[in-house]
Amino acid sequence: MNARSHPHTRITGTGSALPERVVTNADLVRELAARNIETSDEWIVTRTGIRERRLAAAGVRTADLAERAARAALADAGIAPDSVDLVVLATSTPDFVFPSTACSVQARLGAAGAAAFDIQAACSGFVYALSLADALIRTGAHRRAVVIGAEVYSRILDWNDRATCVLFGDGAGAVVLEASDTAGILACRMHADGTRASILSVAGHFDQGAAVGDPFLRMDGKAVFKLAVDVLESSAREVLGVADMVPQQVDWLIPHQANVRILAATAKRLELAPERVVITVDRHGNTSAASVPLALDAARADGRVRAGQHLVLQGVGGGFTWGSVLLRM
Ligand code: ACO
Repeated sequence: MNARSHPHTRITGTGSALPERVVTNADLVRELAARNIETSDEWIVTRTGIRERRLAAAGVRTADLAERAARAALADAGIAPDSVDLVVLATSTPDFVFPSTACSVQARLGAAGAAAFDIQAACSGFVYALSLADALIRTGAHRRAVVIGAEVYSRILDWNDRATCVLFGDGAGAVVLEASDTAGILACRMHADGTRASILSVAGHFDQGAAVGDPFLRMDGKAVFKLAVDVLESSAREVLGVADMVPQQVDWLIPHQANVRILAATAKRLELAPERVVITVDRHGNTSAASVPLALDAARADGRVRAGQHLVLQGVGGGFTWGSVLLRM
């Protein structure tokens, strides 16, 4: 018998996992000063809006954070982990080349037989993963997905490069996405421009048993800033256009959390009140693929995001990649 295709998908649960260790800007200033690297709380706050971030303890893996976030999302949805039939995990900091981190999480959840794979689209990873899970469920091939963004970026930062090491944090966020007869996800669009790879990359790789090339994140901050604002605006307009909506009908814009100045500039371009942009970068730093589901979960937990509201989730990052998802909660 053929599986019935489903007209819609809906997010039925959200969850988060953050490492215990909070590192404030003041902590970072002290730690860097001990190695003769100068920075300041004032520089970090005015340029980025970041005040603190969480950093994973040695030995904590991406799958550890991902499993915690997935279990929290499943509990929120009231769903047994073993009933999940699809695990899609976005990360640029997988535990291994393979098996995928998604397979580790699938095993830990006891979701026997569920399809599981990682998506690598840097900071756009969660939006890509959600778009793909939505499409797979609507074909009828799957019914119940856990979609995760999880990162331990502290492992790929050059802690001697003050221009990048102050920007990032570790964490994981997850959602449960289920087949539904009522509309939840309304539109998804993904894009990439591989010709802009050099402005944000970790260029290292394995060859003949050795790590070759630069294993750390490198970024042209100004070029990333400009591109991010352009594509966040165009991709929000694109998904809203699919649903015949205008930015002013959006209850919450939840963009990738890279920098408050990028978020403010995007809101201004969309003529959206700044209060309608969810901001967590001040507390989490940039957690790459984890940032959007972490921000969504935080805004649900504090009562801002409620059932029936319209949200635009947005990713932008290395590749270069970007995309948006318009949904009704
Ligand atoms: N503390 C103190 N000074 C610093 C630091 C630091 N941590 N880092 C850099 N500086 C210095 C630089 O050396 C430079 O000094 P100089 O003028 O003597 O050469 C000065 O500050 C200005 O540096 P700029 O790079 O011009 O600073 P800018 O205003 O562009 O801000 C930043 C840098 C915050 C990275 C900005 O370009 C930005 O936000 N870019 C967006 C990129 C981003 O958010 N990336 C996150 C990852 S990408 C993503 O997630 C999509």
